[in-house]
Amino acid sequence: MAKKKTVFECCECGYKSAKWMGKCPACGSWESFIEIKEEKTSTKTSSTPSKVLKFDEIEKEEIEKFSSNDSELDLVLGGGIVPGSLVLIGGSPGVGKSTLMLKLAGNINKKVLYVAGEESPGQIKLRAQRLGIKNKNLFLMPEIVVENIIEEIKKGYDLVIIDSIQTIYSQEIQSAPGSVSQVREATFELMRIAKENKIPIFIIGHITKEGSIAGPRVLEHMVDTVLYFEGEASRELRILRAFKNRFGSTSEIGIFEMTKQGLVSAKNKNFFSKKALPGSAITVILEGSRPIVLEVQALVSESYGVPKRSVTGFDLPRLNMILALLEKKLNLPFNQYDVFVNVTGGIKINEPAADLAIIAAITSSFRNRPISKETVFLGEVSLVGDIRDVPGLEQRLKEAANLGFKKAIVPTKPLEEPLKCYEVKEVEKLIEWM
Ligand SMILES: Nc1ncnc2c1ncn2[C@@H]1O[C@H](COP(=O)(O)OP(=O)(O)O)[C@@H](O)[C@H]1O
Ligand SMILES: [Mg+2]
Repeated sequence: MAKKKTVFECCECGYKSAKWMGKCPACGSWESFIEIKEEKTSTKTSSTPSKVLKFDEIEKEEIEKFSSNDSELDLVLGGGIVPGSLVLIGGSPGVGKSTLMLKLAGNINKKVLYVAGEESPGQIKLRAQRLGIKNKNLFLMPEIVVENIIEEIKKGYDLVIIDSIQTIYSQEIQSAPGSVSQVREATFELMRIAKENKIPIFIIGHITKEGSIAGPRVLEHMVDTVLYFEGEASRELRILRAFKNRFGSTSEIGIFEMTKQGLVSAKNKNFFSKKALPGSAITVILEGSRPIVLEVQALVSESYGVPKRSVTGFDLPRLNMILALLEKKLNLPFNQYDVFVNVTGGIKINEPAADLAIIAAITSSFRNRPISKETVFLGEVSLVGDIRDVPGLEQRLKEAANLGFKKAIVPTKPLEEPLKCYEVKEVEKLIEWM
């Protein structure tokens, strides 16, 4: 037996209440409640209970992945696409989610259904042409009703793309498309069909201002894999990061570049210049299994007033710590200087291995003396000024050697030296070396 009941729901977080409220007690949003008619099913449903299995007798599920024919996407997915998996691609508008998915649809030799809820077929065709898409087995469905999409998926596809979840709605629910209950219901229906028919489904989701996909992470719990596509509209570099993955590690990243022909792998792109200028130093960061050689830049200039500190791609508290250390250990008067730090290429440094390079760049700018561009700097600095080892040192050094670097400043020499290594154990020694 079903009966209709009126409830109010917060469009930001999905909190439900019997009466309208000005402020949501769960997420604090103002005037976010809308009235919805909720179908209330009787609790006395007759479902047969699941059989309990003896753990020893359960057969292991073999996961067979197939390649997306895109090495960057495969890497982030953990080796390829898993049949029956639900993958969420999140990112801010304009970052390139539709481009990435259309490229996937065109790259694999399989029957693909692209559900377009946002753009017209003509617009998508234009983009497909620009990307040079040739898949003869690619089908486009301009549709926003989830029940109709499910019916179409049942006809047999190898892969389905939903662009985007915020435009899709279920006729069973009364709230507006994009609201938390709609997004949740549509995703649930898609999850069911994906598992039943063993079809991988990619769902595109826009990130709201607050950084979540349609409310607080409602989707992240439901799907198998969550990938975030990051990048600034003003820069070409895009990074695809796994946030959750039931079928692989979340430490790998994919690097792309947005070009006229769409997204291409930026694997062979260099994030440094070989010109020796004051304030520039080279380091190697490690993103998952991938070493990236990077240039860090610093500008130290005399301050008029309160000294400014500013960072792009680096952690501001960490910069403050490094400056305090340099002031204390080396008597450098940074309290009278503005310090700006920038990591090139739009990459963010999330590990302390780059500390030494940051110090080298700051000191080089302060003294207005360039550092030889044949050298890479690797090492974490501690609060007391000693320099600590970094994980994956040999792998980082190998990459630097491959790219033509000749010398490395490291905390401890590795067994094998792909390039000439100099040991530096304290900040003072680094400055002496320079
Ligand atoms: N003709 C073009 N040449 C080069 N880049 C383009 C062209 N048209 C669109 N783009 C790029 O594609 C981006 C839009 O990508 P899109 O896949 O629609 O993003 P999303 O689906 O994440 O909103 C734009 O920000 C722009 O950088
Ligand atoms: Mg789009």
